[in-house]
Amino acid sequence: MTTQYVAAIDQGTTSSRCIIFDYDGRIVSVGQREHRQIFPQPGWVEHDASEIWDNVQLVVEEALDQGSITRDQLAAVGITNQRETTLVWDRETGEPVHNAIVWQDTRTNELIHELAGTAGQERFRERCGLPLATYFSGPKLRWLLEEVPGLRERAERGEVLFGTMDTWLIWKLTGRHVTDVTNASRTMLMNLRTLDWDSSILEDMGIPADVLPEIASSAEVYGEATGFLAGVPVASALGDQHAALVGQTCFDPGEVKGTYGTGTFLVLNTGTTPVMSSNGLLTTLGYKIGDQPAVYALEGSIAVTGSLVQWIRDNLGLISSAPEIETLARTVEDNGGCYIVPAFSGLFAPHWRSDARGVMTGLTGYVTKGHIARAVLEATAWQTREVVDAMRQDSGDDLATLKVDGGMTADNLLMQILADVLDIGVVRPMVAETTCLGAAYAAGLAVGFWPDLETLRAKWHKAAEWSPAMDPQIRSREYHNWQKAVQRTLGWIE
Ligand code: G3P
Repeated sequence: MTTQYVAAIDQGTTSSRCIIFDYDGRIVSVGQREHRQIFPQPGWVEHDASEIWDNVQLVVEEALDQGSITRDQLAAVGITNQRETTLVWDRETGEPVHNAIVWQDTRTNELIHELAGTAGQERFRERCGLPLATYFSGPKLRWLLEEVPGLRERAERGEVLFGTMDTWLIWKLTGRHVTDVTNASRTMLMNLRTLDWDSSILEDMGIPADVLPEIASSAEVYGEATGFLAGVPVASALGDQHAALVGQTCFDPGEVKGTYGTGTFLVLNTGTTPVMSSNGLLTTLGYKIGDQPAVYALEGSIAVTGSLVQWIRDNLGLISSAPEIETLARTVEDNGGCYIVPAFSGLFAPHWRSDARGVMTGLTGYVTKGHIARAVLEATAWQTREVVDAMRQDSGDDLATLKVDGGMTADNLLMQILADVLDIGVVRPMVAETTCLGAAYAAGLAVGFWPDLETLRAKWHKAAEWSPAMDPQIRSREYHNWQKAVQRTLGWIE
């Protein structure tokens, strides 16, 4: 019998990747391409969806070539993606009507205030689990319908389709207009309990139902690919953070993972009923495997962590490559009194303040670039701490361990700081590519390549672990200083 593999396509914020996995969940080959970040105005971020589609085809071909794998050796392909990024395209020609509006984009700020009106930011939370914020897709779609000439009329005539990047790729691959529950849960338009579009939110937000995709589970065969992957079942879709939850095999309530990339996203499995947050977290879908019950999650989304390191590299030139941040931070013992709160796109969880902007505070003549590097790493750790505190309060769980993954977890100093400020163990698995792994696992489950979740759990192995080693008094003093710095970011935009 020919060896079989499962491919995962990860359509991320800065690049698209394809990773091919074998039955043991080991990486066989990888293809990766970056795409352009388009900044038409301050606060606006766009992607060219056609460029992304071209890149996706190239990275799949690269991964197949690198592994000397033919497409008939693929049991399935799964998709994972940057979430909330919003696209509308012509149903007939397939041409996008506008660049995709990226999740970080803040152009809907005014619209958010308008929608909040007297009901406030929590207006839709009970139904969709989310506060009104520029982050989510629904308001971005409404912006497109208002601002692209003639688009609302075309939408009402059923001529255009909306999708997040999963939907765009599945449509390109199979011709089917479908999304999964995890991606749909980031639009603000899906009802958390019915797992269907919420007609009253659609009405309040002015979204015609005809543009929306069908909502399916995260692991089922949506269709067979045509073209360069002809015949391969397209069998999973999960937003990247939900895929990482699956890749980390957080299948039990109380298990939590943190993915450290451009931003950082902590997701806590809360079981088969949604838990509403009173502490600034998002209620979201964890995953839904075929016709099994949906698993819900609480999420703490942090907009800027790894991208702060890139900013220090690209905008300030303090380092020439991202990993150098660790070397520079190790030249000092502590932050020298300096704190950086990178509220570049406002503050996400648990604050949800679009009026916040970044600060660097506590500066004296003593502060060196080493202290700044240290403050950069600490910013990631303290932002995580705020989310973990909110998770403990909302769920009543202790959260004894945080499973981490993503590019920043290669920074051992950051991992130690994280364990120190959280005061819990931090563990990193052998396969750090948990996002792709989760999408592959879901696709493999859908086609019977892997039998069940227990089989997947047995493939998770610890590669490294960090334990807290910080004096509790220093921890509470530093947390207090961090919280003071956060206060200074608020209300900057009037
Ligand atoms: O919600 C946004 C998130 O899905 C983006 O993830 O890893 O592409 O920056 P990433």
